[in-house]
Amino acid sequence: MVQAWYMDEDTASDQRLEHHRNPPEYITVEQLYKKTGVEYFNINVSTHTTDGVLDKIKKERGYTFEDEMCCSKDHLENYEEKIKSFFTEHLHTDEEIRYILDGSGYFDVRDAEDNWIRIAVSAGDMIIIPAGIYHRFTLDTKNYIRAKRFFVGEPVWLPYNRPADNMPARQEYIDKLQKGFVAAAC
Ligand code: LAC
Ligand code: NI
Repeated sequence: MVQAWYMDEDTASDQRLEHHRNPPEYITVEQLYKKTGVEYFNINVSTHTTDGVLDKIKKERGYTFEDEMCCSKDHLENYEEKIKSFFTEHLHTDEEIRYILDGSGYFDVRDAEDNWIRIAVSAGDMIIIPAGIYHRFTLDTKNYIRAKRFFVGEPVWLPYNRPADNMPARQEYIDKLQKGFVAAAC
């Protein structure tokens, strides 16, 4: 089950640790949505290909492409390089949609005040990171995650590292953030 919390400012120690503030500051998925526009669904891994829940989301949101990726030392080509680029703060011009099948990891997203929120994902968690939000990803200390990726149309996985403030996707995200992510809650 997903958990999210505000991160500490400790940049020196291992990115794979939890990095809680002291005392810890958890936020709910509802708060996460209001603060960032990140959406969350819990979908049963053992029945997800047949129970229709994922199919309904795919249909409603127009996710026509899907593939599967495994992130671990043995499965990922150029592992060290990829791990480094995943953890470099960036944005995309489209949603980043991940459904975790196995393993675990952390997606970090910025809130409106530029604080990092750490989202701990594991099997059954589907996370939708909006276009234009600054974010990053890291494995946790278990060093393993397997996930499905989705996309509307032909996939573009290109990251734009911060600063990318003048990109239309960034401007559109800021507009939505200022208007508030309330009405369209999932
Ligand atoms: C991605 C994650 C690492 O862009 O943010 O694939
Ligand atoms: Ni990304």
